[in-house]
Amino acid sequence: MYTPDAIGTPLSPSATKVMLLGSGELGKEVAIALQRLGVEVHAVDRYDGAPAHHVAQYHYVLDMTDPDAVKNLVDEVRPHYIVPEIEAIATDALLDLESEYTVIPTATATRVTMNREEIRRVAGEELGLPTSGYAFASTRDEFDDAVRAMGFPCVVKPVMSSSGKGQSVLRGPGDCDEAWDHAMSGARVNQARVIVEQFVDFDYEITLLTVRSLDPSTGKVATWFCEPVGHRQHSGDYVESWQPAPMSAAAAENAQSIAARVTNALGGRGVFGVELFVKGDDVYFSEVSPRPHDTGMVTMGTQRLSEFDLHARAILGLPVDVTLVSPGASAVVYGGVEAAGVAFSGVREALAVPETDVRVFGKPEAFPHRRMGVVFATAEDIETARSRATTAASLIHPVVPGGEWRRGQPVVGQSPE
Ligand SMILES: Nc1ncnc2c1ncn2[C@@H]1O[C@H](COP(=O)(O)OP(=O)(O)OP(=O)(O)O)[C@@H](O)[C@H]1O
Ligand SMILES: [Mg+2]
Repeated sequence: MYTPDAIGTPLSPSATKVMLLGSGELGKEVAIALQRLGVEVHAVDRYDGAPAHHVAQYHYVLDMTDPDAVKNLVDEVRPHYIVPEIEAIATDALLDLESEYTVIPTATATRVTMNREEIRRVAGEELGLPTSGYAFASTRDEFDDAVRAMGFPCVVKPVMSSSGKGQSVLRGPGDCDEAWDHAMSGARVNQARVIVEQFVDFDYEITLLTVRSLDPSTGKVATWFCEPVGHRQHSGDYVESWQPAPMSAAAAENAQSIAARVTNALGGRGVFGVELFVKGDDVYFSEVSPRPHDTGMVTMGTQRLSEFDLHARAILGLPVDVTLVSPGASAVVYGGVEAAGVAFSGVREALAVPETDVRVFGKPEAFPHRRMGVVFATAEDIETARSRATTAASLIHPVVPGGEWRRGQPVVGQSPE
């Protein structure tokens, strides 16, 4: 794993280079954080105009599931670090590239965490962490057996999917046909394999942002935990989050122990988003992102260093600080409409709500449930922060451009109503 003694000058032969594989809103913030430390950023995505493309020194459009395309670009750019931002990439190519380049956190971690079967084998079977009951199925018969074994209610998900795609909750035998069809249509790769999980009747769920970087006093990798982030999901996507999520001391200790064990098993350096379900003092491992987490966008308002700053520092092996400065909350701004080049009005009104801030991601195309921006707010307590963030987010509205719009043309605003 490469640890620079010094950071070079961007756009010069001495540049310290990072290649981001995936250039969404999380990648955009990682790119900004890296650039503040003087790093040269190469942002890759499958479409032009992705959020991190706007801020990186170099940007590329590439099918990141194509191993040869990924390898060719990496060999051309020769970055010091390859930083995956999304799950849907050719992880086998990363395994090959790892002999020459540093993959964050590791190539194996990116492969294991993109597949629900592999991460369950690590977390449930190798580490013995508490999880919901689960079974896998590749055919309809196996699926019916798995559902019978788990009982109702249960949850079915394609083994490779994210953002709730292909996922459904089964309440009784009558739900099986639809759930199976839905899972088959939502799988990322053409692979008919699903996980059936027992439904965990949790009191609340959290993301425990866990950072692995070098401890300056020992020079060795150590682990830090941010204050827990609570969140609310709707159709498998996060709608709002808050920090710190109130937890009993015992639950907080269990959560840290699970997060330490799973991130230690995955290895490498960087931020991890450990998703946990909490019932009383019991904590269940659900899944883990080997990168900053969408629910962790709240840290842009709450922490001295956001999860993106922490990721940038951890990549470079620099000291980290997970101090929470204020309780806070975040709320998502959706596209609301299907259109290219939408504008967002109401930012003025949103920012007039006390202690709020707004990020507009700049995605070239909107659709109703596409995440286009986020609002975060601080307050003395999380209830007030949540109310500020959701109120402010509700004040922001998409404005559909009038007439035909082409990239490069100014958008002429015209409200849809
Ligand atoms: N076994 C379960 N019991 C109860 N609720 C569950 C279970 N599995 C998932 N959920 C609910 O569905 C949400 C999404 O599940 P999960 O994180 O596995 O899906 P995902 O597609 O990976 O979503 P994302 O990519 O947004 O994290 C969870 O945050 C939780 O609210
Ligand atoms: Mg999840």
